[in-house]
Amino acid sequence: MNTQKLIHYATLAPSGHNTQPWKFSVNENVIHIYPDFSRCLPVVDPDDHALYISLGCALENLIIAAGQIGHKSIVDYFPKDEKEECIRVTLNENGNDDVEDIYRAITVRQSNRSMYNGKEIPDDDVQKLRDANVYDTVNINIFKTNDKDIEPIIEFVKEANRIQFNDKRFVQELISWMRFSKKEMRNRKDGLTAEVMGFPFVPRWLGRIIIKTFVKPEREASKCEKQIRSSSIMMLFIGKKNDKKHWMDIGRSFERVALTATSLGIAHAHINMPCEVVSIREKLARHIGVTENEEPLLLIRFGYAKKLPRSPRRPMKEIMKPL
Ligand SMILES: Cc1cc2nc3c(=O)[nH]c(=O)nc-3n(C[C@H](O)[C@H](O)[C@H](O)COP(=O)(O)O)c2cc1C
Repeated sequence: MNTQKLIHYATLAPSGHNTQPWKFSVNENVIHIYPDFSRCLPVVDPDDHALYISLGCALENLIIAAGQIGHKSIVDYFPKDEKEECIRVTLNENGNDDVEDIYRAITVRQSNRSMYNGKEIPDDDVQKLRDANVYDTVNINIFKTNDKDIEPIIEFVKEANRIQFNDKRFVQELISWMRFSKKEMRNRKDGLTAEVMGFPFVPRWLGRIIIKTFVKPEREASKCEKQIRSSSIMMLFIGKKNDKKHWMDIGRSFERVALTATSLGIAHAHINMPCEVVSIREKLARHIGVTENEEPLLLIRFGYAKKLPRSPRRPMKEIMKPL
């Protein structure tokens, strides 16, 4: 069994600021996934929900890749008989999942932050994206960008964006995960590289000046609005409870939707600010009318765009944990 390949596929998952907050270990047919809290984001993600969503994305990639090579996965969330908090995946021999399309999409999927071309996603494909959420612990709301229902969502995005970019700690944390030069990108193999953010590579000192001079709250808010209007739909992922297991399930569900989109030639990107700022998340929750335990935690736009350069990933030796 090629467990190294399965773990490699897991690491191609998205993660907040590309922190890659995971470690893995392998013992015969059992793979453990551990949260790596040294890579958490205390300002933008103080309760670590985004960290667990990222782990859910990695878990889903691993399971899809295992299914493709004939293994059925049994997942134990945070088993009590393990020394450390982890997710335990036991691979059995008898799987034969029909996952070819989404499996192939794992190595191609990317967060695409560019302006999209405004083309509408056909209803059949919107339905395929909706159907890709196979987990009953997660609800999905879809907003079409040519529908009037999008307007309050855009206002929540702009309001949250202004709050974030007026917060020095948020900007500091963001800058700490930006990789401005090629050298930084090559050395760290994590974070947000200049090219995926749409900037040229520059030395770090210059990058910091550019961010502080040109990235202003109002400008960012109106850029987000344009990005949304250039997209076809937005999808809001809502956990039916607000706990670690449901956060992971949101990640699993989102990853399946993102891979399905990729397989259909549809681009996606996070427009996650209204889920990150608690006061706006509460307003958003009231606006869409969720029940007491439900929590809207991911907001994604979908549409059509040219591919961008890929985000780096750390090598296997940095993410494997000795048993
Ligand atoms: C939980 C979560 C939250 C994210 N939030 C944002 C966000 O607010 N803005 C953004 O541009 N990208 C966001 N991303 C996308 C990551 O930055 C992206 O996955 C990472 O940089 C790796 O790039 P890739 O998805 O192209 O592999 C988020 C991803 C995850 C999993």
